[in-house]
Formats: sequence, C-alpha cells, structure tokens
Amino acid sequence: MEHKGFFGSFEKVWILDGVRTPMVDLNGAFAGLSPIDMGIKVAREILARTQIPAREVGSVIAGSMAQASFDAYMLPRHIGLYAGVPIEVPALQAARICGTGFELFRQAGDQIERGYTDLALCVGTESMSRNPIAAYTHRSGFRLGAPVEFKDFLWEALDDPAPDISMIQTAENLAKQYGISRAAVDEFAAASFERALAAQAAGYFTGETVTVTNERFALPGYEDRGIELPRKTGEVFLDTHPRPSPFEALQKLKPVYGGGVQTAGNSSAVVDAAAAGLVADSARLASWGRPALAQLRAAVAVGVAPEIMGIGPAPAIRLLLNRCGLRLDDIGLFEINEAQGAQTLAVARELELDLARLNVHGGAIALGHPLAATGVRLTITLGRSLKARNLRYGIAAACVGGGQGMALLLENPEWRGR
Ligand SMILES: CC(C)(COP(=O)(O)OP(=O)(O)OC[C@H]1O[C@@H](n2cnc3c(N)ncnc32)[C@H](O)[C@@H]1OP(=O)(O)O)[C@@H](O)C(=O)NCCC(=O)NCCS
Repeated sequence: MEHKGFFGSFEKVWILDGVRTPMVDLNGAFAGLSPIDMGIKVAREILARTQIPAREVGSVIAGSMAQASFDAYMLPRHIGLYAGVPIEVPALQAARICGTGFELFRQAGDQIERGYTDLALCVGTESMSRNPIAAYTHRSGFRLGAPVEFKDFLWEALDDPAPDISMIQTAENLAKQYGISRAAVDEFAAASFERALAAQAAGYFTGETVTVTNERFALPGYEDRGIELPRKTGEVFLDTHPRPSPFEALQKLKPVYGGGVQTAGNSSAVVDAAAAGLVADSARLASWGRPALAQLRAAVAVGVAPEIMGIGPAPAIRLLLNRCGLRLDDIGLFEINEAQGAQTLAVARELELDLARLNVHGGAIALGHPLAATGVRLTITLGRSLKARNLRYGIAAACVGGGQGMALLLENPEWRGR
C-alpha cells in the first residue's frame, strides 16, 4: 500500500538561485546574532545576486524553530521588510522542524502554482546558540517551596516526550532495527568529514556562501538593526565544523548513551546559520533570462513513528518516486540530512541507496544542522551538484523530530542528456 502523506507536483516552479551564510559551531562567532539578522543578510544577498529588485517580491516565507530573539514572532515580516520587500507584501512563517527549509519551498510552490504570486522569497534561519533558557510556568510568580522550572530549550527540543526518548535515542533504535554497527556509523561519518573537507579545499562552498561582516540594515522610517560579530572577528566566510576526522579518531569517542553507536563525532553538529532561495514562475524565469538553479518538480511530507523518526526520508522518497513515475536509478544525486549517522544509514539501507550518490559534498555530521536553514542548504547544494555533474534529477530529504519525513524532487534545467 502506498504511504499516506502529502504529495504535490509543480509544473511552473523554479528556484532561481540560493545562498547561505557559513555554518558556525554553537557559541561561535554567530552566537550573538539574532536569526532575523542572519535571515536579512541572506535575503538581501539573494536579491543582490539575482539582481531582482526587492520591490518585485510578492511573498515572503520564512522559518526558524528556536524562539531565539524577543521579536521572533515578527521574524518573516522583519526579514522581508529589511530586505526591501514592499510593505503590502504578506509574510508567512512555516515550520516542520528539520524539514522547515523544504516546507518553505513547498509553500512557495503551492503559492506560485495557484497564482498567488510569481516570486517568493524563502528564508530559513536558525540560531541554535540563542535557544533560550526558558520558564513557562512562572508568569504568576514563584510560590514558596515550589520547584523553579527554568529549562534549556535546546536540550529539551532534542527530546520527544511522547516516546520519552531523545533524538539520538531514535537513531539508536534504528541502529538496532537495521543492525547498524558503531564501525559502520563511524565509517559513514569519516566519509562525511572527508567529503566536506575536500569540497571546502576545492572552494566548492564559496559558490553558495556569503561572507558575513559587521553591517547595519537600514529601513527608512524604522529602527536600524544589523550584524555585530565578536570584537576580534573581522569576517566569517568558512563553515567551522569540518575538521580532519579519520575513522580511528572517531572510534575513540564515547557514545552519548552507553553501548550505543552515536557519538559527538557521528551526529549532526549543532550550528548557527541562515539560507535563502528565490522561487519564481515560468514567465518570470523567462523574463529573468538566466538559467535557474533548479526546477522544483514535486514535494512530499509523511508521518512515521516518533521513536524511529529518522526513517522519515525513506517513505517520503518512495512516495515521491511512485507518484512521479520515477525509479531510484533515475535519481542522479541524493542529499539526505545527516541528523545522526545511524539514522541516515538506516534510510540508505531501507532504500538500498548507493552511498556514492548520497551527500557527495558531505552532510550535517561534518557541516552542521541549523534546523530551519538545513532544507534550504540541502536544496541549494543539490541544485549546484546536479549542474556540476550534468545529472537530471536529484532528491533532497530530511527526517523530522516527532516522526515525519520530507522530500523534494529537483530537475536540473541545464541537463544536456547522458
Ligand atoms: C551528540 C551531541 C549531544 C554532542 O554534543 P556535545 O557533547 O556538546 O559535543 P562536543 O562538540 O562538545 O563534542 C564532545 C567531544 O567530542 C569531540 N569531538 C566531536 N567531534 C569530533 C570529531 N569529528 N573528531 C574528534 N573529536 C570530536 C569534541 O572535541 C569533544 O571532546 P572533549 O569532550 O574532549 O572536548 C550533539 O552534537 C547532538 O545532540 N547532536 C545531534 C543534534 C540533533 O539530533 N539534531 C536534531 C536532529 S533530529
């Protein structure tokens, strides 16, 4: 039986281009930045790169999971306004945790296909560092002797209270279910680091990253805001997490849970970053006159059991292929978010995926996983990689905490045949 889930295909939806900030480790140079300012940075940059005036944007769709600034409720609106998008244009906040970046493109596809707009600005931005230490229950004060309940939002967010286990434990469940050993996970992680370092050394990521420096964002008639890096940091232009991580070094790390396979070296790194994409209909693409980064052909969202949330991409990819009439072999490249090494390997085993076609420039184990920005990053990387290798179709996918999976099908508009 076909998996029950959302499937949508698109005829006239194009991702013109995309850009991201470097991804910076927790408590690093981006720790003081609001996700809104990181979002404004990439929004302004994508408009500058495409040379499309902000006044032509007809929809703003942004996502961020952490309540990482006091104006977080206004996040999509402030990103749009400070990017120069007209006041009349509405802004939507979309969220599907680790699938949020894909959800932004899915929403843009729906809006464009239905004719609400011909140009949507999509921004995924995440400050993992500024996850608040929060209290939900003290508005009416502190009763004498009652427990004081400040909690670390970041730590709590990596836990699912329904099965009462952490995200890492959901990957441990998959490791048991699929018979995945610690050695297999470390081997996979070592390859992720090696590929990311090779891509970094070859300058591959410079094609999709914008250098972040101190900057003021002015909006006439309103308060200035902006980016202020730590005093001794002049600029940030490199992803900070990739480091030489041979198999032998990874093998020495302690598992997060005794007897388990997941460690700090083979789980996704916790980083801060933002990424943006500009999505247009066919008429606007034609008037733009350049080749798009990718055609967005279809999108899927499915649900899976919370205790094995990491398997989500498998049924999502199957549904995508079935409904599009494609086979696994038709797909040149896969970008599947490496939330945890055992999780990605379980998906690969379930689908019998060739690892040579998966995350060819490394994944979140090496680069990091800034929740709402991740799907945008994967989509940009996939679009660029399809072009660089003259491949026609690619699938980007992610698992989602709570038990979901998302997948997008991209087609390379410059594919020149086999
Ligand atoms: C696994 C996890 C808990 C580790 O967090 P952490 O303990 O704060 O990680 P750290 O970066 O401090 O690393 C711990 C140690 O491993 C070492 N380490 C990490 N990566 C390494 C690598 N590639 N090579 C060698 N050593 C490494 C660190 O140097 C550190 O060593 P130290 O204790 O001697 O300083 C955290 O990264 C995590 O939860 N990741 C998954 C996030 C996730 O699930 N996201 C959502 C998906 S649904």
